Amino acid sequence: MQKKTYRVGIVGATGMVGQRFVTLLDGHPLFTPAALLASARSAGKKYPEAVGDKWAMSSPIPAYAKDMTVMDAEADAEKLAGKVDFIFCAVNMKKDEIRALEEKYAKLEIPVVSNNSAHRGTPDVPMVIPEINGDHLAVIGAQRKRLGTKRGFIAVKSNCSLQSYVPLLHPLKKYGIRCAAVTTYQAISGAGKTFATMPEIVDNVIPYIGGEEQKSEEEPLKIWGHIENGAIVNADGPVITSQCLRVPVSDGHTAAVFVSFEKKPTKEGILRAWADFAGEPQALALPSAPKQFIHYFEEDNRPQPKLDRMTENGMAVCAGRLREDVLFDYKFIGLSHNTLRGAAGGAVLLAELLAAKGYFD
Ligand SMILES: NC(=O)c1ccc[n+]([C@@H]2O[C@H](COP(=O)([O-])OP(=O)(O)OC[C@H]3O[C@@H](n4cnc5c(N)ncnc54)[C@H](OP(=O)(O)O)[C@@H]3O)[C@@H](O)[C@H]2O)c1
Repeated sequence: MQKKTYRVGIVGATGMVGQRFVTLLDGHPLFTPAALLASARSAGKKYPEAVGDKWAMSSPIPAYAKDMTVMDAEADAEKLAGKVDFIFCAVNMKKDEIRALEEKYAKLEIPVVSNNSAHRGTPDVPMVIPEINGDHLAVIGAQRKRLGTKRGFIAVKSNCSLQSYVPLLHPLKKYGIRCAAVTTYQAISGAGKTFATMPEIVDNVIPYIGGEEQKSEEEPLKIWGHIENGAIVNADGPVITSQCLRVPVSDGHTAAVFVSFEKKPTKEGILRAWADFAGEPQALALPSAPKQFIHYFEEDNRPQPKLDRMTENGMAVCAGRLREDVLFDYKFIGLSHNTLRGAAGGAVLLAELLAAKGYFD
């Protein structure tokens, strides 16, 4: 039987994450790009002209996008109704403007799958890593009630930084995680930059990324939360403390993690928990799901962003250097591709899960 397909709009299509969506959706088995949207600066231009020399993908602009005219994400929102079945949204605007824009689309009965942080704290908006908390999608019913919509809703993915360690901590929760300390080494594409547009990062490390440490510490608690009375109630632990650094890497966020447990596992127990960990995307064989979610490297000098970020098309999470620590129980290294698993790829996987569960019908 032919699988049901959906027409999709990409809002922020000219940006770093938007370009990933444009690339990932080329030939996607379920989702067909039907509209590309960006700011008024880009509106009315053909996509290649609107992107100009900002195109940062290693493959050329896909043929389907070359002839598409970019629409204005704010002024043309009403024109999208009936033209697309849902949108991906990744825009660089003020938080309150993004909140309003995403609610506007939801109220136009266009579901929004968002990479933006604006709605991550909204209690009835699910923030989902599909392998971990797909059950949070059940809160969408309460959100639709609040918004007064039948189809429209907002679902978000989490910040890119935590994709390098939360998937590694999650299968270890059975040992009772007491606390974790994390330092992230984050790629410049996470700031929407390339080496050409961020020359100050060459031969350098910038020890501050605005808002990132708070997101890295707080967002995991929503992901590990539960639904109660139409809202997601955050988990009250484990405590995570973080430092987030910008480093001269094009793509791929690395995390150095220290962790202590209530019941200290063996190293073999941790490796087994990682090797065995699979979620709904694997069970449902979703098109973008990595076959093996966590890849452990035995070599002391892995994982490395340059060598390992594209593991399973950039959708796997890599780990290495697991060993006992003198202050905490264990320490290890995590890595994930920030614009694939951490942004556009993670959002496409979330949309595949939403489609499989009938939320776009
Ligand atoms: N990069 C990452 O790894 C990453 C990871 C997770 C989440 N995110 C989040 O994803 C979002 C986008 O990030 P990015 O790195 O792709 O940013 P970016 O490269 O700066 O792109 C921003 C996009 O927003 C559009 N835009 C700006 N002002 C607009 C307006 N007033 N109305 C409509 N569109 C407007 C831009 O269109 P024009 O070209 O027309 O200006 C462009 O398409 C941000 O919220 C970011 O926090 C990024």
